[in-house]
Amino acid sequence: MSEKVALVTGAARGIGLATTHLFIEQGWRVAMVDRDGDALQAAASGLNEASPFVYDVSIPDEVDEMVGSVTNAFGRIDAVVNNAGVADFGPIEETGFARWRAVMATNLDGVFLVSQACISALRATKGAIVNIASISGLRASTLRVAYGTSKAACIHLTKQQAAELGEYGIRANCVCPGPVRTKLAMAVHTPDIIASYHDAIPLNRYGSEREIAEVITFLCSEKASYVTGQIIASDGGFESTGVGLPALRT
Ligand SMILES: NC(=O)c1ccc[n+]([C@@H]2O[C@H](COP(=O)([O-])OP(=O)(O)OC[C@H]3O[C@@H](n4cnc5c(N)ncnc54)[C@H](O)[C@@H]3O)[C@@H](O)[C@H]2O)c1
Repeated sequence: MSEKVALVTGAARGIGLATTHLFIEQGWRVAMVDRDGDALQAAASGLNEASPFVYDVSIPDEVDEMVGSVTNAFGRIDAVVNNAGVADFGPIEETGFARWRAVMATNLDGVFLVSQACISALRATKGAIVNIASISGLRASTLRVAYGTSKAACIHLTKQQAAELGEYGIRANCVCPGPVRTKLAMAVHTPDIIASYHDAIPLNRYGSEREIAEVITFLCSEKASYVTGQIIASDGGFESTGVGLPALRT
């Protein structure tokens, strides 16, 4: 059993919960962070190697308190997975400043705040940061002015972190998932959108939470010890396929 500790945000469900389960299978302990207290308690119950921490990653004071509580409870942090995210799709004219800020607050501010608050703990372990962006940060599309822009910023923030924190031995990488049938995706993916994704993705299907978690835990592991500053899509080939028109399929 390794003594390694991962802090995973947005761990109450979806990709964050799958990542928690995989870390535990690989011998890690996990600090599960989420602002949805009921869902987090339910997700953490029965997991002996994990503890829940109910905090909102977009609020600076809460982030400082959360990182203090995690280091008190576990004594160390070896990996930070900035996975908490919100999706809100809408046309530019209908994206008011409050909607814009709500998306930026979690998807960008949260990644900045949690990573910054963990630097001293990560220096001590020569640990790793993995930020969860999206294919929407790699490719622009309609309806994603806030979500896509927040994820593109998350991608660049990862490179900034890699550039500056490398001398401390801290690695920073970014995973860009394609569509996964989580609560977040199903709230914004209509049946038409689901069918279009299947057409546009070379592997012809949505990914699973577990498939994203595998990439995340690899990047946190010693196997990725010389990998930093990288943006890795786990998306069934969606990002690499240029125009990807269904009509061009044979
Ligand atoms: N599901 C997809 O298709 C997809 C695709 C690309 C990227 N992503 C990204 O993957 C990540 C996980 O998404 P998911 O699909 O598992 O979503 P999800 O909605 O199932 O889970 C997200 C979790 O984050 C928590 N959360 C949200 N804001 C928070 C905050 N401010 N503080 C603390 N916790 C907060 C929620 O309570 C929830 O438990 C997100 O960053 C998302 O943008 C998802």
